[in-house]
Amino acid sequence: MDKTDFSKRSFSYYPTKAIVIAKYEGGAWGKPEITADFNLSVHCFAGAFHYAPECFEGLKVFRGADNRVRMFRPEENARRMQSSAGYLDMASPSEEMFIQMCIMCVKANWEFIPPYESGASLYLRPVLFGSNPQLGIRNADDVTFVVMASPVGTYSGARELTPGTAVLSRNFDRAATYGSGHYKLGANYAQSLHAYNLAHKLGYRELLFLDSATHTYIEEFGSSNFFGIKGNTYVTPDSGSVLPSITNKSLRQVAADMGLKVEMRKISVAELAELDEVNSCGTAVVITPLCRIDDKPALESEIVTRSYNFGNPEQCGPVSRKLYNTIVGIQKGLLPDKYGWCLFLD
Ligand code: PLP
Ligand code: COI
Repeated sequence: MDKTDFSKRSFSYYPTKAIVIAKYEGGAWGKPEITADFNLSVHCFAGAFHYAPECFEGLKVFRGADNRVRMFRPEENARRMQSSAGYLDMASPSEEMFIQMCIMCVKANWEFIPPYESGASLYLRPVLFGSNPQLGIRNADDVTFVVMASPVGTYSGARELTPGTAVLSRNFDRAATYGSGHYKLGANYAQSLHAYNLAHKLGYRELLFLDSATHTYIEEFGSSNFFGIKGNTYVTPDSGSVLPSITNKSLRQVAADMGLKVEMRKISVAELAELDEVNSCGTAVVITPLCRIDDKPALESEIVTRSYNFGNPEQCGPVSRKLYNTIVGIQKGLLPDKYGWCLFLD
């Protein structure tokens, strides 16, 4: 039996026992294989190394208070991967194959599913990349699909719902207006790595990107979607260049059923002054409150032109906490799964 203290896990790589691999070659998928060898043998001319035909997913597996193991909305991740692969004009696994390989991966790493009391979960990382040798710029003909797992704790390393600070990114964009921001491509994250380092060096937990055309409207954080609470309303940006978050989609449903008005629309930077609660949301971050967002002309600059403050810097806002308790309650078996979002594995 594994002796990991899962309660000490943060969101970082942790070795597990096995991964699951399938290859699409010559127009057909091969059989998924489970292997303990984590080193892939990939041709150095594979497109993934050059032009980045690569997309990935992230989903969590929870052991509930009832001791049962469930995966959260894997069909949504399967569909989003198909959409990302479609943007790259490359093959993708069917919904059934995607879910099947996720289940195989969980079963092969069963001892790494953290116990309920630890507060941790098993994070699955499905990755799809172009693997045929190529030189010219074109879509990949052959692809490799790998599902791997790692037990994870909170993304920030702090206790869940601990508020953090963010900075607006005015001199680095994550995604162009008509670019790839709507898809979960590794390339989108490469775009934000340098800007993140600058923000982290200044002590900010998060970086909030704006629309690249006008820098007037809020898009999303580099790791997660944005949502705010304004009175009795849940507001989240409507933009073709943000990732359609499965957590945000679930929260919109929960918010509506809690009696909140739900608005998906443009949110200007100026409107930050009118929001009562602000959060990032996503699989890794769950709901992470922001108590302050600084506006700076440039990430390298000492100057802060304006700071927006939200609620008590020590505590998550009451509406966001209620949303958190509901979604996490469903994921961890504390509340009935009334939407049918959990795929039970035992
Ligand atoms: N936006 C970005 C840029 C992300 O990396 C993520 C994480 O997956 C999200 C949003 C949240 O999406 P989801 O809730 O599906 O995890
Ligand atoms: C996730 O929340 O699953 C992500 O992929 C975000 C980030 C850690 C890349």
